[in-house]
Amino acid sequence: MKLTKTDLSVALLASALPAAVQAACSLPSSYRWTSTGALAQPRSGWANLKDFTHVPYNGKHLVYASFYSNSYGSMNFGLFSDWSQMGSASQNQMNQAAVAPTLFFFAPKNVWVLAYQWGATAFSYRTSSDPTNPNGWSAAQPLFSGSISDSDTGPIDQTLIGDDKNMYLFFAGDNGKIYRASMPLGNFPGNFGSSATTILSGGRYDLFEAVQVYTVTGQSSPTYLMIIESIGSQGRYFRSYTASRLDGAWTPQATSESNPFAGKANSAVSWTSDISHGDLIRLDANHTFPIDPCNLQLLYQGRSGDSADYNSLPYRPGLLTLQGASGGGGNPSNPPTGGGGGATVARFGQCGGQGYTGPTVCESPYKCTFQNDWYSQCL
Ligand SMILES: *[C@@H]1O[C@H](CO)[C@@H](O)[C@H](O)[C@H]1NC(C)=O
Repeated sequence: MKLTKTDLSVALLASALPAAVQAACSLPSSYRWTSTGALAQPRSGWANLKDFTHVPYNGKHLVYASFYSNSYGSMNFGLFSDWSQMGSASQNQMNQAAVAPTLFFFAPKNVWVLAYQWGATAFSYRTSSDPTNPNGWSAAQPLFSGSISDSDTGPIDQTLIGDDKNMYLFFAGDNGKIYRASMPLGNFPGNFGSSATTILSGGRYDLFEAVQVYTVTGQSSPTYLMIIESIGSQGRYFRSYTASRLDGAWTPQATSESNPFAGKANSAVSWTSDISHGDLIRLDANHTFPIDPCNLQLLYQGRSGDSADYNSLPYRPGLLTLQGASGGGGNPSNPPTGGGGGATVARFGQCGGQGYTGPTVCESPYKCTFQNDWYSQCL
């Protein structure tokens, strides 16, 4: 494309303005990502690390997850500053399992909330004033006490999100349906009750599980993004939908395996065919689940091996970074992963590849090893 004189002066003007007043990015219509390798290995005795939920916490990363070891349990990672440090962060088991967790800060009541499945009711929650303490959570409370028909699993993989009036619960059922329940902000934290509305209906494998909903920040009118995990012919992938209201209709955005929100087809990833259950990196831990379309990253579960038993599949955390976000206006408080001058990269971390700007020196004794044009890894 040619630049006219006017375009050029607009471009020059824009580049002279501070980031905060530049136009925000919009969601791309077609996504392209690069990926890290596996960022951490499970603690001894655990088959995997799964179902990640992430919040920024005092400038660091706070991650909760599920793991499997004869039965499902849950854990958090000790705080870490850079994704290259995830592999050496402590892995702390929770005394009471909170499987497929959702972590956020409920700002109106200044309280941290951890929602999860497979407690006494379909979904439960616990609250805390210190989310870094895996065993500092309150007693469990019911979050949703309903059931669904035509599902082998029952309600599965909850997520929550609020606007300025209501809190919403979204969940899946491994059955081609996505469900929603809501309550006024003032009633939360509390029980959404026992009934939910079916808001999307389709193929079982297309609308399978791991639904997540986010507020897209910096848009001229309210914009929400929903991602849903699908089972494709090449592996697990995410499809996306958008809406202008949380209680409104969802419009398909990137919903095919060949042009997905995130999957093998658009992630330049070689170590895993699955881009599965995880969380987009949020701008803030609050209940609006805000994401910055100029700096989209997805913490996901991937795997390079197999297992006869689904529960023992060797899932590990990986991180996708969106390429070519457009519209300008990057957020300087959310630098791309891997930064930190002079830092070294831990085992399995990314150390090179097209578009990668982080550190390139591996922690001893590991060597930066070429995997493909987009990805070199410390091995
Ligand atoms: C949530 O965080 C976003 C991003 O920092 C901010 O713009 C928004 O005002 C916050 N909302 C509430 C209700 O705290």
